Amino acid sequence: MRVDKLLANSGYGSRKEVKSLLKGKQVTLNGIVIKDGSTHVNPDTDNVEVNNKKVSYEKYIYLMMNKPQGCLSATKDARDKTVIDLLGNEEKTYQPFPVGRLDKDTEGLLLLTNDGQLAHELTSPKKDVKKRYYAKINGEVLHSHVKLFQEGLVLKDGYHAKPAWLEIIQSGTTSEIIVTVTEGKYHQVKRMFEAVDRKVLYLKRLEMGELQLDKSLSLGAYRPLTEQEKAYCFSIKRK
Ligand code: URA
Repeated sequence: MRVDKLLANSGYGSRKEVKSLLKGKQVTLNGIVIKDGSTHVNPDTDNVEVNNKKVSYEKYIYLMMNKPQGCLSATKDARDKTVIDLLGNEEKTYQPFPVGRLDKDTEGLLLLTNDGQLAHELTSPKKDVKKRYYAKINGEVLHSHVKLFQEGLVLKDGYHAKPAWLEIIQSGTTSEIIVTVTEGKYHQVKRMFEAVDRKVLYLKRLEMGELQLDKSLSLGAYRPLTEQEKAYCFSIKRK
């Protein structure tokens, strides 16, 4: 890869800042000063140093975001803002993408990474990764609904959903619930409630497997996964 990309990805600032490090003869490749940002280096075998300090290169990025409403969980869109637009330039250089999808009007836990294999594993139906959502529902949610969710609902298009766990926080003209599903089909939760003639008014993802939405993240904010959170993700990869 290009040395300027490697340095930008390793926390040495923007491409412009990296250029000035190179120009200032502060960067060496295997002991020899390099000034050209387009120089190709192999992060696994080459020794790149900035001011005599070895650059440790992280190939992958793992971020937790509290997705706000109004933006798409996609990398690009001609019309709408995407979750990638919320990232800083440094994170963008890694070219992360969202793991699975949340609807435009859904908030909450979203993982962003450039680790394609991990994204694949976390969203694979075979891995049965649980997703836990908080929702506001139009109308009463009844104990009979809890049973129907648990048995596996038949959605309006005939699809047999896998069993899901519904907890009622409060039931009334507007109800509040927590639902845990193991699937991530298009509009999964909304369609499950439609199957029992209810409408989801508000939806927020709280958990994905053992990853819990960090309550200190305001809407649109993000942070790197902790070592423990990453270890959990890698354990799924190995399963
Ligand atoms: N289920 C939905 O209906 N929407 C989401 O964004 C996530 C799960």
